[in-house]
Amino acid sequence: MKVSFHGHSIVQIETNGKNIIIDPFINGNGQTDLKVEDVKADVILLTHGHNDHVGDTVEIAKRNDSLVVAIAELATYLSWKGIKTHGMSIGGAYVFEFGKVKLTQAFHGSSYTEDNQNIVYTGMPAGILLTAEDKTIYHAGDTALFSDMKLIGERNEIDLAFLPIGDNYTMGPEDALTAAEWIRAKKVVPIHYNTFPVIQQNPEDFVSKLPDGVGLLLKPGETIEL
Ligand code: NI
Ligand code: MN
Repeated sequence: MKVSFHGHSIVQIETNGKNIIIDPFINGNGQTDLKVEDVKADVILLTHGHNDHVGDTVEIAKRNDSLVVAIAELATYLSWKGIKTHGMSIGGAYVFEFGKVKLTQAFHGSSYTEDNQNIVYTGMPAGILLTAEDKTIYHAGDTALFSDMKLIGERNEIDLAFLPIGDNYTMGPEDALTAAEWIRAKKVVPIHYNTFPVIQQNPEDFVSKLPDGVGLLLKPGETIEL
């Protein structure tokens, strides 16, 4: 499978003949190399309802007839905008054509802010465990460090993990180093930094502090073969 990072929390995965994109926040994301009109997505996976994660989901889903997989409340909210959705909840797994998705807990908020100063509650925030082609990817979403990450590490053989390091809204680098130890992923990629002034970080420094061979810095647009 091919996995690429596109700035902030956007991850694209090509597996089993399907194009999957996680958290496609493109318009307003100064860190991304993507253009909304170029994105091909059979599936959109969302970690939570915040605007910097839902991003351009509706436009991409309408153009591609994508299936949007998200926590149940967020899936319901998006289904009212005329797109195909599949709702799930924390701890639940489902085997799709493209692979198996399990939602894990995340310590964060989850709501969608509409233009008219209305904040819509969108259920619990989540992390995503995606298993396909015998590989498991963990996208932690936006989260604080929490000790059940040990359980996630014990119960899953994670090949590749995406962990937020921006601080302020999520774990900072120090907590993310502990998270990396607990989840025991073979490779860890930092995400959710430098998009906004309050989440400025040095990702090279973070990666250099991970154990040998674990840290992987992907610049926006870089792809790896997993
Ligand atoms: Ni968030
Ligand atoms: Mn965020």
